[in-house]
Amino acid sequence: MRAFTIILAFVSAALANPLLFADSQQTPLGNQQTTYPGFDVDLNERRLIQLEGQQPVWLTELDKINLKAQGVGFFDITDTPSLGLANSLRSDLKPQFPTPNASDLVIPVIKTLSSDGPIQNLKDFTSFRTRYYRSDTGRQSQQWLLSKISEITSLHAPKSLQKQISINEFSHPWGQNSIIVRINGSSATDDSIVIVGAHQDSTNMWPFLPAPGADDDGSGTVTILESYRALIAANYRPTKSVEFHWYSAEEGGLLGSAAVAQAYEARSANVYAMSQFDMTAWVKKGTREEAGVITDYVDLSLTEFHKQLIDEYLDIPWVETKCGYGCSDHASWNKAKYPSVFTIESAFENHSPNIHSTKDTYDYSDEFSFSHMLEFSKLAVAFVIELAGWSKE
Ligand SMILES: *[C@@H]1O[C@H](CO)[C@@H](O)[C@H](O)[C@H]1NC(C)=O
Ligand SMILES: *[C@@H]1O[C@H](CO)[C@@H](O)[C@H](O)[C@H]1NC(C)=O
Ligand SMILES: [Zn+2]
Repeated sequence: MRAFTIILAFVSAALANPLLFADSQQTPLGNQQTTYPGFDVDLNERRLIQLEGQQPVWLTELDKINLKAQGVGFFDITDTPSLGLANSLRSDLKPQFPTPNASDLVIPVIKTLSSDGPIQNLKDFTSFRTRYYRSDTGRQSQQWLLSKISEITSLHAPKSLQKQISINEFSHPWGQNSIIVRINGSSATDDSIVIVGAHQDSTNMWPFLPAPGADDDGSGTVTILESYRALIAANYRPTKSVEFHWYSAEEGGLLGSAAVAQAYEARSANVYAMSQFDMTAWVKKGTREEAGVITDYVDLSLTEFHKQLIDEYLDIPWVETKCGYGCSDHASWNKAKYPSVFTIESAFENHSPNIHSTKDTYDYSDEFSFSHMLEFSKLAVAFVIELAGWSKE
């Protein structure tokens, strides 16, 4: 109850303090503007918000924006109020994960990873004014990503593998859809799914301002796209099914991933493991280059496995770190009782200071590193092959 009061105090303080948006020219209060060209946002819309350890509360869209600006993590559960309830028994499954043993298969694929694609793709992806999920350019950036995935698939996957791949939009009511790419597993008996994810949307702290979102999460988006490219170019044939997800509306309170996870739960999908990539490029000056392994709101045994992958396949060490409640899309899968992990560019306190601002570009600072990003592409390749297997006919 005490924490609850504090949160409400937070909301009121944020609402009373338009200075929060000092760099924006337009403050949410003291400004009667209610519509913004190119955006479909109603700042007064009521949304059901889940804060850590609290009963859900009805807040406005503007309250959400202010909460986010205060660094408070939350789920917007308006459309997914019962995520995880039907799966409640899955928590007892205590899944086991193997010790990495497929280096003969993983290393040759890792060797084919390159920064060429990520550099060009990030340049294109950050050229949209914003990828905000309720904006016209957010819809356009999603269409661009969809066509880039199709192009990569037809360029790099052998024809017979293409027949096992499906590329789909997962529709959302707000315009920018999530994207799901699936490589069907060869097993007739094992219906489990290994998922690698990133979020495609970006936001400025005041959402109507430009948001290049190079690190958050353009980096994760192109990181896993490069892993996908390398896997299909190697004619990868998984035993379990493998999916790559690019979520919409992470910045709106994990809306896209929660909708996807809810659909998987509703059809009793057998998700074996999910790995989220959100911010993979920043190496803070004066710090050791490392991979931040998140230890809160994740599956701990999958996280142990993940550390072994880093030891085995990456040129950088891991460091344990925490990011708090509802901090990225792995949390939706965790809430749905599916094992998920999250790896980030650094110890949490060393992540890019430029996110959610116009400064989140790839060429603003030499702390933005494509070679660091490539380490995470290795991790996604290893995660997929080690967990989904490789059936060689
Ligand atoms: C790795 O171990 C698993 C069992 O944990 C086994 O099913 C798989 O075939 C092994 N893979 C390789 C490449 O040896
Ligand atoms: C993949 O498998 C699913 C389920 O068995 C099937 O419905 C779908 O058509 C398959 N997709 C492709 C591209 O083969
Ligand atoms: Zn993010």
